Amino acid sequence: MTFHLIASLMTPGHFRSAWRLPDADPNAYLDIDYFRGLARTADETGLDAIFLGDAPALGPEIATSPGTGIDPLILLGHLAAVTERVGVLITSSTSYNSPYNLARRFQALDIVTRGRAAVNLVTTYAPAAAANFGQTEPAAKETRYRRAYEFLTVVRRLWDSWEPGAIVADKQTGRYADPELIHGADHHGEFFSVAGPLPVPGEHPVVVQAGGSEGGLKLGAELADVVFTVAQTQAKAIGFRDDIRRRAVAAGRGADDVKVSLGVIVLVGETEDDARERADELYATLGIDQLARGVLTALGLGDRDLDEPIRPEDLPSVPLAEAGSVGFQVSTRALLADKPLSARELARHAPGSGHRLLIGTAQHIADDLTAWWHAGTADGFTIMYADTTVDFDRFARLVVPLLIERGLFTPAEYGSTLRERLGVPQYGQRRADDTAAAG
Ligand SMILES: Cc1cc2nc3c(=O)[nH]c(=O)nc-3n(C[C@H](O)[C@H](O)[C@H](O)COP(=O)(O)O)c2cc1C
Repeated sequence: MTFHLIASLMTPGHFRSAWRLPDADPNAYLDIDYFRGLARTADETGLDAIFLGDAPALGPEIATSPGTGIDPLILLGHLAAVTERVGVLITSSTSYNSPYNLARRFQALDIVTRGRAAVNLVTTYAPAAAANFGQTEPAAKETRYRRAYEFLTVVRRLWDSWEPGAIVADKQTGRYADPELIHGADHHGEFFSVAGPLPVPGEHPVVVQAGGSEGGLKLGAELADVVFTVAQTQAKAIGFRDDIRRRAVAAGRGADDVKVSLGVIVLVGETEDDARERADELYATLGIDQLARGVLTALGLGDRDLDEPIRPEDLPSVPLAEAGSVGFQVSTRALLADKPLSARELARHAPGSGHRLLIGTAQHIADDLTAWWHAGTADGFTIMYADTTVDFDRFARLVVPLLIERGLFTPAEYGSTLRERLGVPQYGQRRADDTAAAG
């Protein structure tokens, strides 16, 4: 059994207003030295991967907080070069990329990092992105996921271009490669026509998928290695993981072939008082009313009193596919079923993202993660930080040693690949070949 830890480097933090704190540098998200420091800490701690979310557009939130930031492939590609063992997980869009370019770039990153590359393939909700790629508005979500499925199918086929043994390199005969063992993708589908093959051999980088709607679940269970998810209650998380595992088996894969990584935001206090004080400070930077109105929109509730309790039956009977994240809506519904909360309370409970927020000492946070893991909620956690500058360091320094002490987390070993550490097998053809060779 593996237990993984992935660190989101989103800056200033998942409290998007943390840049307003007296000691914060509002422009840290543009500072390469700052990111190098985070990456080195992650590497020294033995975390499995560092991660950056992304959307290829400037969002409306820029009026109040830094946007998603500089191109994460360049940034994390650079950070990979100043680290030795931490994986680099980079968000890329299936709606605004071509499969050949993406397959080639991530293969290259995987080669130069010796197996530390991973891609978080998203369909990109951000409406502003469409206009950057010649479209007036984003395609419907169902269409975006159909494209994503075809996209990843082609990418996997390209990564399978070279069979083992294709490089002959016989100096006597002068024969370098056996073209019979190099295959094109030869793909002609609804969205793409791609010949292939890729010009060099490589492995499959790790693929993560983060959608919670039907299209996202199918893509994750059938074609991804890791699924990111959001949950506010253990029951919801366990149900989600069971569902992904069942779907993987139904698709002919092993239940353990797909790992579930649960998002958690942490605010780490040196003491309980310190945690409470920092939480008060961070909440004071937020425009709670504005966040609360965002929550109402995301839930499809429109205008409503911000203090009126919301019960699950107040929500639209079917999650709104186009209104944002189905995963977020399902998670919030499960939370409200436990206890009705007002929009203002919901905004305070999960400021701006819908992820569970853990506020407390290192001990409290380690206890919580341990309990959630043992309950079968996830194979590991994607840790997001309330204020990345402070909480990333504290999590690494204070929480991770407790998780190691409990035998839950094992720091990444030098020379291991991210795939090995996460415990996910090679995908597809290559895996079938390995199995045949082993048998
Ligand atoms: C942990 C996590 C990280 C995500 N990161 C991104 C991201 O970087 N960019 C993005 O466009 N969507 C991101 N998403 C959103 C999903 O990929 C998906 O687009 C969104 O949840 C809407 O799709 P759904 O209705 O299938 O849930 C993330 C979701 C989760 C749970």
